[in-house]
Amino acid sequence: MAGRLKKQAKDALRIIGCGSGVFLGFLTASGDERFYANALMPALQRIVGAETAHVMAVRLIGLGLVPLNNYKDPASLEVHVMGRKFQNPVGIAAGFDKHGEAVDGLYRLGFGFVEVGTVTPKPQDGNPKPRVFRLESDQAVINRYGFNSCGLSVVQERLKARKHVQSELTKGKPLGVNLGKNKLSADAVSDYVEGVRTLGPLADYLVVNVSSPNTPGLRALQGKEELRHLLDEVIKERDSLRTEKRLPVVVKIAPDLSTQDKRDIAEVIMEVGVDGLMVSNTTISRPDTLKDPKKHEVGGLSGQPLKKLSTQTVREMYTLTQGKMPIVGVGGVASGRDALDKILAGASLVQLYTALVFQGPPVVNKIKRELDDLLKAQGFTCVAEAVGADHRATPEQPQTHSERSHDHNASHSAFTTAH
Ligand SMILES: Cc1cc2nc3c(=O)[nH]c(=O)nc-3n(C[C@H](O)[C@H](O)[C@H](O)COP(=O)(O)O)c2cc1C
Repeated sequence: MAGRLKKQAKDALRIIGCGSGVFLGFLTASGDERFYANALMPALQRIVGAETAHVMAVRLIGLGLVPLNNYKDPASLEVHVMGRKFQNPVGIAAGFDKHGEAVDGLYRLGFGFVEVGTVTPKPQDGNPKPRVFRLESDQAVINRYGFNSCGLSVVQERLKARKHVQSELTKGKPLGVNLGKNKLSADAVSDYVEGVRTLGPLADYLVVNVSSPNTPGLRALQGKEELRHLLDEVIKERDSLRTEKRLPVVVKIAPDLSTQDKRDIAEVIMEVGVDGLMVSNTTISRPDTLKDPKKHEVGGLSGQPLKKLSTQTVREMYTLTQGKMPIVGVGGVASGRDALDKILAGASLVQLYTALVFQGPPVVNKIKRELDDLLKAQGFTCVAEAVGADHRATPEQPQTHSERSHDHNASHSAFTTAH
């Protein structure tokens, strides 16, 4: 009798075990948002270090091993900017696919655009490990990778091998390439120019990254005269490329700039005629709110503690460029609300990286669905109508659109009439 009971209990446990495995497998494959954010990602983070997890994620996504994705982008999310069509405004930020190994898998996750890089002209190892740290309690990351890159030639070969695929995707899912300089290069300008020449013909837009905090001297290129000279040469090289369409050049800036720096940058980019601004890279600041003991690690901070600072920088740059310069808002985007806040502040597109670390691939569709719902709820028919809406508040209604929308009672006529 006791033996029979024991056997039945064992069988029951086996069935429950198999059933749970199948159920967990189903949740993983189906891309269940809560399961990823609350169970799978925290569990993986306990067993795998930050850089190993990054390398593994790029491999898996590169192999196309991604959750099922049945979400169809609604028309409200389509954006036309910089002479390109974006099927949705949510892109993967630079630094995730540094070497162009996972582009097609990233599109399958639902990103509206993918940015490869930063790529440096020659291969280089970057800083010694460990160099990436997850600040779990702050939903943040500190990294000091220092542009580990396999160099322009390897990325060129990789992107060439899928050029025919991209030529179709380009119609609604552009590919960006983010360019940098080698640590030991004596001539920064020629490094960027080489990047334009080598990878420009394979890209739908280029990013001049002068804002990573982990390459000595790089951020000094944001200074007025240095930036003017750099961008003049980059644009000269861009103009000499024989591309079907004009290739947009975007400048990526830091969130740690002084008011004068920001004024200078606005003046220079309007003058030399770049096509867009990416705001922002990681911050070297450490907000008082940080709780995690790893907050003292050297490097750039990303994720939730960067969100306000980067949105505020979007807002300022939109004003300084009179709303005429397309802005890509980056920093702490982890929900539709975060994306909309950047858009209302002046961004036409957004990107994310750190939210993927904590919430996993389902975060992409979650953001798109929430953004679509919020746009509708606030009386916007599409993203373009919402871009910069905070700046169109009338004097009688000085509160910003994003502030008003948080209390759910807002009337939106002042903004819709201003579009
Ligand atoms: C691990 C890591 C590596 C990064 N590497 C790059 C890079 O190579 N080039 C770059 O322009 N930005 C890089 N970034 C910055 C991101 O592109 C983005 O600007 C920043 O992380 C803010 O977005 P987030 O809060 O959504 O992560 C990196 C960020 C992280 C977390």
